[in-house]
Amino acid sequence: MLSTPNPIHAPYQVYYLLAMYSADAIRALDHQWVMGTYRRQEPLFVRGEGAYVYDSEGNAYLDLVAGVAVCSVGHCHPKLVRRICEQAGTLMHLSNLYLTAPQAELAKKLCALSGMESVFFVNTGAEACETGLKVARKYARNCKGSDAYEIIALEGSFHGRTMGAVSATGQPQYQEPFAPLVPGFRHVPRNDSDALKQAFSERTAAVMMEPIQGESGIHPLSHEFLKTARDLCDQYGALLIFDEVQTGMGRTGEWFAWQHDHIQPDLMALAKGLGGGFPIGALLARGKAAKTLVPGDHGSTFGGNALAATAAMTVIEIIEEEGLRQNAEAIGNYFRALLCALKDQGCPIQEVRGRGLMIGVGLSQPVARETAKHALKKGLLVNPVGDHTLRIVPPLILNESQVNQAVAILSEVWKNEFN
Ligand SMILES: Cc1ncc(COP(=O)(O)O)c(C=O)c1O
Repeated sequence: MLSTPNPIHAPYQVYYLLAMYSADAIRALDHQWVMGTYRRQEPLFVRGEGAYVYDSEGNAYLDLVAGVAVCSVGHCHPKLVRRICEQAGTLMHLSNLYLTAPQAELAKKLCALSGMESVFFVNTGAEACETGLKVARKYARNCKGSDAYEIIALEGSFHGRTMGAVSATGQPQYQEPFAPLVPGFRHVPRNDSDALKQAFSERTAAVMMEPIQGESGIHPLSHEFLKTARDLCDQYGALLIFDEVQTGMGRTGEWFAWQHDHIQPDLMALAKGLGGGFPIGALLARGKAAKTLVPGDHGSTFGGNALAATAAMTVIEIIEEEGLRQNAEAIGNYFRALLCALKDQGCPIQEVRGRGLMIGVGLSQPVARETAKHALKKGLLVNPVGDHTLRIVPPLILNESQVNQAVAILSEVWKNEFN
């Protein structure tokens, strides 16, 4: 018989399921009953704590994926777990028909951190981007007329899987199976200011871009390109939308990546690290764009409910109390320096990109997937993007000794397997 676990520390549901089913039986259930959209990777993880996750056999893995840049304060941070449990026992959800204190407080805090003026809450990054597109189209229609519907986005971008977000995404493999896409999107190469200028016209409603492209392999946009986008938006009365779903919430060392460049957007999409693992997203707006949507224009049943907003507010508190933005910057610099040293020692590294704890390791050989597989066997999770890039987006609590551990594993893999 199962002993009653402490709900704060024990993933009761997982132990309960493992008591009912073996790990193999869970794999079989997933295979049969969950739609096959994901290439599941082994092993079966059952627990997380800090920067580590544990598999069903009790083995520990240093997690440099963090739910793909989500678990910003580490797995199962005690304060986050406690606040979620307390709020779950008080009030989880009411719908946006009614006011809740956690949502109002979170909106105020996000605006204070960003200088934005109002927030629409959603559940995912795609919805946050989708909301930005809707605001931009309505704003442009109000200001410039119904012909001004074009959205300029970038090649290699990623904004999510809903129809609007996938139409903005500049990667044909995510778009082609779902054609026809939403009309009115055009794509230009990243960091090509001339192409951006040529794409602009009176029909332009908005430009949407990630300050550092994440999903396509950590590609930062140049200051000059961001500035050109800002200037062109001002000149044409279009909105600048920054998708900070992956870069936001302290990951790059500032709360939002645009703060490094002092180039503020009109609209900003957030999700991922905002809830530290609890699903919540947000679209922030300022100026006239902040007043564009009126009752009836847009909505979300779950967006920013009391439980999600409490989780996000707690994540922000933890980032502030533990200096995690500063840590992301310092540890990110340390990590990049060690990776550059590995390059000098002959490891198959071409370049190290990114900022803070958003690191892309460009490889000189097509060994990203193999590297990740070998690293996994040695207790390290890293995310291969295509054949030539490793994406490193760990929890912001990562420390030097964990970086040393990660670099030792990667070095061993590269020296033993690919030399
Ligand atoms: C920059 C960016 N925008 C949007 C999304 C979509 O977020 P979600 O999967 O929560 O819809 C992602 C997800 O990877 C992302 O990296």
